[in-house]
Amino acid sequence: MEDLKEKVFLITGASSGIGAGIAIYLSKKTTAKLALVGRQEKNLKRISLYCEKSSGLTPLAIIADITEDSDAERVVNEAVEHFGKIDVLINNAGVIGMGGIKNSEMEIYDKVMNTNMRSVYHLTKLATPHLIETKGAIINISCIAGSRPSTMALAYNISKAALEHFTKCVALELAPDGVRVNSISPGFVNSNLLKDIGLSADQLEIFVKNVVGNMPLKKAVENGEIAALIAFLASDSAKSITGSNYVIDGGSMLR
Ligand SMILES: NC(=O)c1ccc[n+]([C@@H]2O[C@H](COP(=O)([O-])OP(=O)(O)OC[C@H]3O[C@@H](n4cnc5c(N)ncnc54)[C@H](OP(=O)(O)O)[C@@H]3O)[C@@H](O)[C@H]2O)c1
Repeated sequence: MEDLKEKVFLITGASSGIGAGIAIYLSKKTTAKLALVGRQEKNLKRISLYCEKSSGLTPLAIIADITEDSDAERVVNEAVEHFGKIDVLINNAGVIGMGGIKNSEMEIYDKVMNTNMRSVYHLTKLATPHLIETKGAIINISCIAGSRPSTMALAYNISKAALEHFTKCVALELAPDGVRVNSISPGFVNSNLLKDIGLSADQLEIFVKNVVGNMPLKKAVENGEIAALIAFLASDSAKSITGSNYVIDGGSMLR
């Protein structure tokens, strides 16, 4: 991880769950510089402080709604103004919306696609000139739902399928510029994402038990495991890897 020490990581969705886990891991294991993005100021500041205590380096905390075009522009501008460059863009922020074709509202489709796909497209577009300068890397957080059909969350599933194809197309486009683009598809991670699936606390507990029980390795994926994969993909050890999707799912895709 020696080669990550001077790198600047821009991480969306760093105020909670997987994104917070990535920021914490990098601050514990490296001296990378972190630009952390989220909407909830209190949570983002808490994660930022935690990182600062670990590495002694103060992250740049950017409160922003990445679905707002002006906020996305501010995110990239503030990161570049503050650190002078961007080496690694982690498109992690995401939301879930429930329902299938018979029972979901278009508002759900718009919210999920705007967050999980449109904002990724926009942020990547804005960051690309800076990533070309550093010959940097992009890592998109997808989900196994992007390649495995299921009926509970149609808009979410297709947003992740689109994200994986986006990853491959942009990897091909930016390869001549020396920018690598990959995605990670986690299986179940016990995070705040679940608060939007419309279950009571009791129902949620049963849901989690069932999901984990059906995973061949019988354990939820941990944030630190995803963060370790991020660190590898961002490093020179992965210098020939682009356009790939890494599944980390406790064997769920085997079923
Ligand atoms: N949990 C799982 O089982 C699982 C599995 C596979 C893939 N994933 C993917 O992993 C990623 C992170 O999810 P998570 O499980 O860590 O969920 P989470 O705990 O709910 O975190 C989601 C993060 O995204 C941020 N976010 C959402 N909408 C945003 C917006 N419009 N602007 C800025 N930030 C926004 C949230 O920020 P605020 O809270 O500050 O608003 C939060 O930091 C998502 O892309 C998700 O699809 C999750």
